[in-house]
Amino acid sequence: MTRGIGRRSFIRIGAGAALGVAAARRAPAAPNDPLRVAFIGVGGRGTTDLNQAMNAGGIEVVAICDITPENLKRALDLVEKKTGKRPEGIGDYPYAYRQLLTRKDIDAVVIATPCYWHEVMYADALAAGKPFYGEKPLAITAKGVKALQEAAKNTPKVVVQIGFQWGAHPARRNIIEKVRQGLIGELLDGRFRRLNGWDNHGNWYTRRAESGDWMLEQAVHEFNLMWMVTQAHPKSCVAVGRSGIIPGRDTTNYYTAILEYEGALKNLVLHYSHGWIEVPGFKKNSFEAEFVGTRGAVDIMAATATLRQKDASGKTQVTGEGGEGDTAEHFANFFECVRNGTPEKAYCGIANGVGATMIGLLIRTSLEQKRPVTLDEALADTRTVPVPPV
Ligand SMILES: NC(=O)c1ccc[n+]([C@@H]2O[C@H](COP(=O)([O-])OP(=O)(O)OC[C@H]3O[C@@H](n4cnc5c(N)ncnc54)[C@H](O)[C@@H]3O)[C@@H](O)[C@H]2O)c1
Repeated sequence: MTRGIGRRSFIRIGAGAALGVAAARRAPAAPNDPLRVAFIGVGGRGTTDLNQAMNAGGIEVVAICDITPENLKRALDLVEKKTGKRPEGIGDYPYAYRQLLTRKDIDAVVIATPCYWHEVMYADALAAGKPFYGEKPLAITAKGVKALQEAAKNTPKVVVQIGFQWGAHPARRNIIEKVRQGLIGELLDGRFRRLNGWDNHGNWYTRRAESGDWMLEQAVHEFNLMWMVTQAHPKSCVAVGRSGIIPGRDTTNYYTAILEYEGALKNLVLHYSHGWIEVPGFKKNSFEAEFVGTRGAVDIMAATATLRQKDASGKTQVTGEGGEGDTAEHFANFFECVRNGTPEKAYCGIANGVGATMIGLLIRTSLEQKRPVTLDEALADTRTVPVPPV
C-alpha cells in the first residue's frame, strides 16, 4: 500500500481545515478523456456503487481506500477483472483517505463508509475542493449538518451528489416538479411509511451512535422525497416509538412521527411510520410516499397522480414523464456535473442532504426527549460522531 504524502505532514493540515480548495483539481477532463475517480469505503454499498459507477461509463477507477484489507482486495480484484487495470489501494489507517482528496490527478471521489464517518469525510472533501458522491445520510449530528451547510456555502463550485438514488428517476422527478407547480393544489396530508426486516442489518448499523438510528440511516430516502416536494424544513415534530424489543441493538424498533410546516405549507400535516417488527411473509420492505392536496393526490414512488377533476386533456390520471432511473443514473448525472462544472445540476446535492437530515434529527430528538420539538431544539443537540482521534 502506498501512502502518497507523509501521514504526519498531512495530519498537521487538520480535519476540515483548508486542504487547498483551488489546488485539488487538474484541468477539466476532455470530452473523451475518462474521469479519474477514487472510491473510499467498499463494503456492501460501496461495492454496489463501484459497479454502478463503472456501468455509468466514462470513468477510470484509479484508487480505492478501505481500512478492511479483505474488502479492499475484493474491490481491487473486481476493477482489475472488469477493466484489466488494477487501481492503487490504500487504507492502512483511518485517515488514509485524505491522501486521495488532495491529489490533483483525481477528479472525484465516491464515499460509502459507515454513517458516522460521513460528516467528517464530506467536510474534508469540501475543504479540499474535491467533487464527491457521498452515500446518505449527509450527517448524523446537528453539529455535522450545520458545519456542512456552512462549508457548502463557501464552496459553491464543488459538485456534490448525496446517494439518494430515488431522486435520479426521471418520471419521479417530473411528477414532483408538476406537484411543485400546483398539480394537486395545496398540500394537506403527507402519508409516508416504511417497513424494514426484523434484523436485516448488523454491526455499526445497530448502534445509534454510529448509524444515527434508522431515521437518519434508512428513512432519509423518504425524507429526501419530502424535501424534494416541499423544499422547506418542518417547523416542529412529535414522535412516539419503542426500542429494546429486537435484541442486541439500541436503535429504535418502531416509531411514528408527525411533522408540521409553516407559511405556504401551514396546512400540511405529514405523518411517517417506520417499523422493523417484521412478520415473515407480511409486507416486508414496503414503502409509501404520498401527498394529498386540495385538487388531487400523488404517489411519489410510482410517479403518478390522481386528480379530483379532469385536466385540460380530459384525464384524471397523470403520469410523470421520462423513464426509470436509479443508482447508475445518479452516478451518470454526478459525472456529467463534474465534467461540465455544473454543481447546480446535481440531482441531490447538499441541500437535499441537509433537508433530509433535518427531518431525521427532528424525529430523533422528539423520540429521545419524549415530547414535541422545534427545529431549533433539534439543532441545539451537541453530540459528536465517534470517529477515532487523528
Ligand atoms: N443509497 C443506498 O441505497 C444505500 C444502501 C445501503 C447502504 N447505504 C449507505 O452506505 C454506507 C455504507 O454502508 P455499507 O452497508 O456499505 O457498510 P459496510 O459496513 O458494509 O461498508 C463500509 C466500508 O467502509 C469501510 N471503512 C470504514 N471506515 C473507513 C475509513 N475510515 N476509511 C476507509 N474505509 C473505511 C469499511 O472497512 C467497510 O468496508 C452507509 O452510510 C449506508 O447508510 C446506502
